[in-house]
Amino acid sequence: MKIALGVTGGVAAYKSAELVRRLQQEKLDIQVVMTRAAQEFITPLTFAALTGNKVITEMFARDGAAPANVESAIEHIAVAQRIDLLLVAPATADVLAQFAHGIAGDFLTTLYLATKAPVVVAPAMNVNMWEHPATRDNVAALRSRGVHVVDPGEGYLACGMIGAGRLAETESIAQKVCAVLGLRHDFAGQTVLVTAGPTREDLDPVRFLTNRSSGKMGYALAEAAVRRGARVVLVSGPTNLPAPAGADWIPVRSTEEMRGAVREHSAQANVIVMAAAVADYRPAIVHARKMKRAGERIALELEPTPDILAELGRERRENHTAPRSILVGFAAETEQIAERAREKLARKAADMIAANDVTQEGAGFDGDTNVVTLFLRDGRQIPLPKLSKFEVANRILDQVLDLQKP
Ligand code: C5P
Repeated sequence: MKIALGVTGGVAAYKSAELVRRLQQEKLDIQVVMTRAAQEFITPLTFAALTGNKVITEMFARDGAAPANVESAIEHIAVAQRIDLLLVAPATADVLAQFAHGIAGDFLTTLYLATKAPVVVAPAMNVNMWEHPATRDNVAALRSRGVHVVDPGEGYLACGMIGAGRLAETESIAQKVCAVLGLRHDFAGQTVLVTAGPTREDLDPVRFLTNRSSGKMGYALAEAAVRRGARVVLVSGPTNLPAPAGADWIPVRSTEEMRGAVREHSAQANVIVMAAAVADYRPAIVHARKMKRAGERIALELEPTPDILAELGRERRENHTAPRSILVGFAAETEQIAERAREKLARKAADMIAANDVTQEGAGFDGDTNVVTLFLRDGRQIPLPKLSKFEVANRILDQVLDLQKP
């Protein structure tokens, strides 16, 4: 995952070097952006050496061209889109004021306006500046817009005064960053196998049967599990999504291929989440040559595909010596959600079915949100509100941990 670290001009700027080291322990790729004032306190070279990335120090070169250390003249947009989080530490009263008022006079303040990624600021300044009503108002405005503020600590300040204003401890800032990114370690040591996307069942060399699955739910699950420290194997049918960083990505096409990839990896998996919209039927005959148009009406004969989830459930039930994995299935329904989910839970011998009514607004295939109810093998039924697919993924993983408790 990539974050931008904005370093602004305060004495605490030297602590940002240590912060970089701490954040690298979380396997974060860090793009440092320094204001001009920050360079009075610490050099870009320090951060370039620590991060292995060029440090961005200015918006424009003096001759009007993009500066040598910036890839293009609109680099702030490229960085804004690429990062998962913007952290500013230390954040001076000045940068907080610019953020609060939308003033975009340099690279960092422009980046703040241009990014949709979450923002964390760790202010550091003299106590009177921190307590000034202007700063208070600016911080309150930023908080109300969803900016996460790591409050400064109290103690001796560089200016000789005692009070609030020292940069928060490196560890507190790192923990806030992890919490906002959803980086936890509660799946460390576990392997999570996820299936995603649709399958394609060939009819002839140019035609196939498929469905509207975008793969977003499965990819969100893979990403959430990676962030929580799991080793993730993502078996994916054809989608338009980029492979999530940090997961082993196995692209497949048909149900049969998906079955092969799942079976290859299921033995090492502690958790198997089948989010793929697997075809239930496929053409009984796959034509070796393109089917010709025939004048009259034709019928397609379909045969059932193997039910991968049911197979895993059956084997797990029969083979008591195998280490127990948690099996999670999905059910996309248009009616009788609860009955069908319960029937699936039993028939597929799964531990949990995440069911959604795909006719509901904000639920189902193509969107970024989902409305899901979790049906558990002990009979519990947990309705979740409309949430982002990433948040739904985390709720499912929370329940998995709960099921794993002895
Ligand atoms: O029976 P239905 O297709 O509604 O079941 C959905 C669940 O079963 C999903 O978790 C899906 O990934 C899985 N499934 C499967 N193999 C199939 C069909 C569905 O693993 N052939």
